[in-house]
Amino acid sequence: MLVAGAGGMLGQDLVAASARRGHEVLGLARAELDITDARAVEDLITDARPDAIVNCAAWTDVDGAEANEREAMRVNDTAAALLATAAAAHDASVLFVSSDYVFDGEKGAPYVESDLTGAISAYGRTKQAGETSVAIANPRHFIVRSSWLFGVGGGNFVETMLRVGGEQSEVIVVSDQVGTPTYTPHLAAGLAELIEGEDYGIHHMPASGSCSWFEYAQEIFDQEALECRVMAGTTEMLARPAPRPRYSVLGSERPDRIELPHWRRGLAEYLGERAGVGRGTADRGTPGRGAEEVPR
Ligand SMILES: NC(=O)c1ccc[n+]([C@@H]2O[C@H](COP(=O)([O-])OP(=O)(O)OC[C@H]3O[C@@H](n4cnc5c(N)ncnc54)[C@H](OP(=O)(O)O)[C@@H]3O)[C@@H](O)[C@H]2O)c1
Repeated sequence: MLVAGAGGMLGQDLVAASARRGHEVLGLARAELDITDARAVEDLITDARPDAIVNCAAWTDVDGAEANEREAMRVNDTAAALLATAAAAHDASVLFVSSDYVFDGEKGAPYVESDLTGAISAYGRTKQAGETSVAIANPRHFIVRSSWLFGVGGGNFVETMLRVGGEQSEVIVVSDQVGTPTYTPHLAAGLAELIEGEDYGIHHMPASGSCSWFEYAQEIFDQEALECRVMAGTTEMLARPAPRPRYSVLGSERPDRIELPHWRRGLAEYLGERAGVGRGTADRGTPGRGAEEVPR
């Protein structure tokens, strides 16, 4: 199996999870395989002959995509289609990792796989386009939507909160966006299992449970025993370039769904893992991407 985008937060954990399940894995970071390079993709697949290709490579800068939608589309749609087409030509399945941001957030109940998409941001539109292109290009496709990822291989909201909590006595965090934080090793284990079967199509694979960013921040400080008061803010106060869905909890209507552990357990495991890899209390980590903290 080939993992594109193996240098990213999810990609790193997927390579490890797949190897643990006994897959022969070829993980390629961007420097080893740029998925927008058609010739490189074709040469690599011809050479490696994987039975499955997992695409963890993506433009993931949600705010940056607003001003660079064409560039984001090139990676999240055009290149995703290229990989899926090459996989089909070599009789391999393809797994495309997608996002809760393909939904508009107005349903008010968990979204299931058959719900209509309606992205409200440029990033969401690129992921939505990628889903369609991948499905058309390769009948043996898995489209897996997950949400609010955090893992030790990348900047994330937990790191931002730990840094802020170490520096400030209070922080304002948005309380009007609800979703599900998902620990990347949990998602990676689910993906590694899914790819072994033939349950093609769309799959929702978030952690269990849901919360607002505000509740998430409170839980981070509680679990890490940090004294930082969390105050509720609004999306309007945050004034980020990209609109976010207000409620993007993912449910599943699939009888064969793979359920992941609760996000609180993921957080506990993450805090243990980061301590183990040297991101302890002395080093409050790197600034996170997509932090929903209100600047003060
Ligand atoms: N993060 C979230 O909250 C979230 C939520 C739902 C779904 N997802 C999806 O989950 C997947 C994994 O995301 P992640 O959080 O692991 O993001 P990430 O850490 O940003 O990883 C994405 C990786 O893709 C690489 N990449 C970008 N353009 C590439 C190209 N042209 N060719 C090859 N590699 C390229 C990046 O390399 P560089 O760093 O060198 O640019 C990076 O290593 C993505 O499909 C994302 O859309 C993420």
